Amino acid sequence: MEFYRLFLLVFYISSCFFLSIQGRLHNHTKHKHNHPVSQISQPPSPPPEPANPSYNGNSSNATQVFNVQSFGAVGDGITDDTQAFKMAWDTACQVESAILFVPDGYSFMIQSTIFTGPCKSGFKFQVDGTLMPPDGPDSWPQNNSRRQWLVFYRINGMSLQGGGLIDGRGEKWWNLPCKPHKGINGTTLPGPCDSPVAIRFFMSSNLTVQGLKIKNSPQFHFRFDNCRNVHIDSIYIKSPTQSPNTDGIHIENTNSVEIYNSAISNGDDCVSIGSGCYDVNIRNITCGPSHGISIGSLGNHNSRACVSNITVSDSVIKYSDNGVRIKTWQGGSGAVSGVTFNNLLMDTVRNPIIIDQFYCQTKGCSNQTSAVFVSDIFYTNIKGTYDERSPPMHFACSDSVPCTNLRLSNVELLPAQGEIVLDPFCWNAYGALETLTIPPVSCLLEGIPESVPKNDIDHC
Ligand SMILES: *[C@@H]1O[C@H](CO)[C@@H](O)[C@H](O)[C@H]1NC(C)=O
Ligand SMILES: *[C@@H]1O[C@H](CO)[C@@H](O)[C@H](O)[C@H]1NC(C)=O
Ligand SMILES: *[C@@H]1O[C@H](CO)[C@@H](O)[C@H](O)[C@H]1NC(C)=O
Ligand SMILES: *[C@@H]1O[C@H](CO)[C@@H](O)[C@H](O)[C@H]1NC(C)=O
Ligand SMILES: *[C@@H]1O[C@H](CO)[C@@H](O)[C@H](O)[C@H]1NC(C)=O
Ligand SMILES: *[C@@H]1O[C@H](CO)[C@@H](O)[C@H](O)[C@H]1NC(C)=O
Ligand SMILES: *[C@@H]1O[C@H](CO)[C@@H](O)[C@H](O)[C@H]1NC(C)=O
Ligand SMILES: *[C@@H]1O[C@H](CO)[C@@H](O)[C@H](O)[C@H]1NC(C)=O
Ligand SMILES: *[C@@H]1O[C@H](CO)[C@@H](O)[C@H](O)[C@H]1NC(C)=O
Repeated sequence: MEFYRLFLLVFYISSCFFLSIQGRLHNHTKHKHNHPVSQISQPPSPPPEPANPSYNGNSSNATQVFNVQSFGAVGDGITDDTQAFKMAWDTACQVESAILFVPDGYSFMIQSTIFTGPCKSGFKFQVDGTLMPPDGPDSWPQNNSRRQWLVFYRINGMSLQGGGLIDGRGEKWWNLPCKPHKGINGTTLPGPCDSPVAIRFFMSSNLTVQGLKIKNSPQFHFRFDNCRNVHIDSIYIKSPTQSPNTDGIHIENTNSVEIYNSAISNGDDCVSIGSGCYDVNIRNITCGPSHGISIGSLGNHNSRACVSNITVSDSVIKYSDNGVRIKTWQGGSGAVSGVTFNNLLMDTVRNPIIIDQFYCQTKGCSNQTSAVFVSDIFYTNIKGTYDERSPPMHFACSDSVPCTNLRLSNVELLPAQGEIVLDPFCWNAYGALETLTIPPVSCLLEGIPESVPKNDIDHC
């Protein structure tokens, strides 16, 4: 469904706004002019020298800077700058080593847009100013997607960077009556519920996202689908604790991902890793208040999910519902394997270490015999405090498909308040302790389960 809609939109946008401009436009901030579309295709001649020589002194191979204001963007926070951004994109994208530049000191309001590649190599989208969408569902144009705001599609090799701010203006979306935290006692009311992901990368590769601040997304802040080679560094994500479904970074069917040196606080998972992800390295993240770092949920609607080679290290998780979590629905298939959680500090976290193979968002998910197989999960050097409402370690594995090779070493978790030490919980969980833990874990089953026929386990 979503695929089909996206394709329609892509087709529409590319047929309307594809401009075969190879012109040498440079930084025109000094003489700002609101020229209409038709003049854009006239390259200035002779081409001016690069306005800012600090980018590159070699004019035969110069970095060209395309300031959105040269394409008519106003940046007063009210004017709709969508067309200017589309034109700037279509122009810059066709030029080698171009910089699409969003200047500091301005707020650009843009509607839901799909920025389509491929672009020439070395392309940078430099955001130093503020980007914002229309303010809430009532201002969202009827014919625009309500599931995504800024989409980058079919791009190989791009850096989205800068010291600017992406302000998702999510509040009116969070307040829709359908959202869980708005009804009385967590109940929800009927009505439209779709809310846009702020930044979405789709079918793209060799991506860098660096330095940006992003706040108050209506839904997920970043979402990567079917991407590879994604490098995220030094970003700052912030939304209120009570903002529903505002995951910081969600990846799905995406591999070779690095998420480094970033801080995330929000109303859902800091990072969520969906089906089809592998080779993911998360390091030096400060997460919280939030719902922690999650693998899953996986296996919904009897689906097959494969996730492997995930490392989360050198990070802090604070004031969060969960620390590091693996969550799967009953009835799924596939496997989660090769996951390392290393050097993590927990501060007042409700479920610091949790595997939940009975994940269920609706009432009465029935027990099923198949499950996503969870194996080779390593917890080392995990220290800090837990919120004493639930046990600090919780391994609830499927009845029919046990978890295997859970390994714990140097795990020390103390209650954040008081003296009450809750016993770890295990259900059908096989594994071993490499060192003693605090609190002691005596509920892991030793060795390899005998009861499970090999062909019941889908190794991916
Ligand atoms: C563009 O030009 C303005 C005014 O000369 C300057 O302040 C700004 O730094 C330039 N930006 C880039 C990216 O070259
Ligand atoms: C400028 O770049 C061109 C193309 O890469 C190269 O051939 C030329 O030697 C460079 N000139 C200088 C002065 O760096
Ligand atoms: C010139 O551009 C090419 C292709 O993008 C790039 O590989 C090369 O490093 C650039 N040279 C300089 C001097 O920036
Ligand atoms: C939505 O409708 C407006 C006004 O009719 C039109 O200008 C715009 O191009 C449409 N956008 C899309 C994505 O169809
Ligand atoms: C909400 O929950 C509280 C506490 O459980 C209860 O006393 C109250 O009646 C509930 N309100 C409604 C409208 O269900
Ligand atoms: C992505 O980058 C890698 C390494 O930098 C390079 O080998 C690969 O060719 C790039 N992918 C594409 C599709 O250009
Ligand atoms: C960890 O990330 C923070 C930003 O959240 C940064 O200030 C710090 O330098 C990083 N530490 C290391 C060792 O890279
Ligand atoms: C696991 O992922 C890392 C990147 O996070 C990669 O360097 C490594 O080669 C992968 N290991 C295996 C066995 O694929
Ligand atoms: C499902 O299985 C769990 C674990 O064996 C058990 O506690 C629960 O009662 C079962 N639920 C139903 C509906 O059978």
